[in-house]
Amino acid sequence: MPDAVDPAALHQPVLLAEVIEHLAPASGKRVLDCTLGLGGHSAALLAAGAVIVGIDRDERARTLALGRLSAFTERFSVRAGTFAAVAEELADAGEGFDAVLADLGVSSMQLDDESRGFSMRSIAPADMRMGDGCLDTALSLIDRLDEGGLADVIYRFGEERLSRRIARALKQARLAGTLESASELAAVVRAVVPGHTHRHPAARTFQALRIAINDELGELERLLAVLPRLLKAQGRAVVISFHSLEDRLVKNAFREGRARGIYDECARRVVVAGEAELSANPRAGSAKLRWAVRSSLVQPEVRA
Ligand SMILES: C[S@@+](CC[C@H](N)C(=O)[O-])C[C@H]1O[C@@H](n2cnc3c(N)ncnc32)[C@H](O)[C@@H]1O
Repeated sequence: MPDAVDPAALHQPVLLAEVIEHLAPASGKRVLDCTLGLGGHSAALLAAGAVIVGIDRDERARTLALGRLSAFTERFSVRAGTFAAVAEELADAGEGFDAVLADLGVSSMQLDDESRGFSMRSIAPADMRMGDGCLDTALSLIDRLDEGGLADVIYRFGEERLSRRIARALKQARLAGTLESASELAAVVRAVVPGHTHRHPAARTFQALRIAINDELGELERLLAVLPRLLKAQGRAVVISFHSLEDRLVKNAFREGRARGIYDECARRVVVAGEAELSANPRAGSAKLRWAVRSSLVQPEVRA
């Protein structure tokens, strides 16, 4: 894909107005954008005067976002790596933020880039790595795990009740040399999953493999654990998730944090996209936003 592209056209930021409302950016406020992507949310936060540190594990996203936001270099810097590792480093260095944003999952650019194997139509090898910090591709994970281990991954991260059958079919296809591309992976799953729903029969399996390869839930757990140390008093956090496994982690962390006095307030209900956004950007259909406001009281065990 050539780089003479308009980053704004590659990914539309979801729930933009709601992110701005809950992060309340203003001149000089420090914001950590844990999932910079194509810089859509960061562009709006910078326009409101904020100072942004953006993190992304995907080199291409970092390059495109840096280009898009080059007018703001005095207030915008980028860190490579996974958000859990970078956020822990920043907290250990005593850095504080007025707001932290995490817009989880993959960007439309990553999904649409056929060479990366995220899409079920892709004829490229089933890779599915977002970028830095991944041990496996989808294919090497299928090869490395035994059938039972693979079934566990598909069950746990895809909530797929036919996980055993699917794992057996995937292992057999690898042995037979008929599974290399993402579209072949989708076809192997489709052949053993009966019935038709509105979702592709392989959607849960793709979700499971992607979550496992990119350690998406581990990354989120570590971010939620370090968040209280990163936020200044009355600092605001917003997390946007795209499936129930993530949303459950966010909901529990914010509610428990509130009960322990770490957060003064948190979302009682999940915030979702309105009609206008849904018709303009179907990807917003599964987006769930939760927010929390850091308490002014900083307990010693949280700072430890
Ligand atoms: C949904 S997109 C973010 C889009 C962005 N908010 C925008 O408006 O353009 C998620 C981005 O976060 C990155 N990402 C996901 N998980 C990550 C992690 N654990 N560490 C660092 N980057 C991550 C992905 O590479 C992707 O570029």
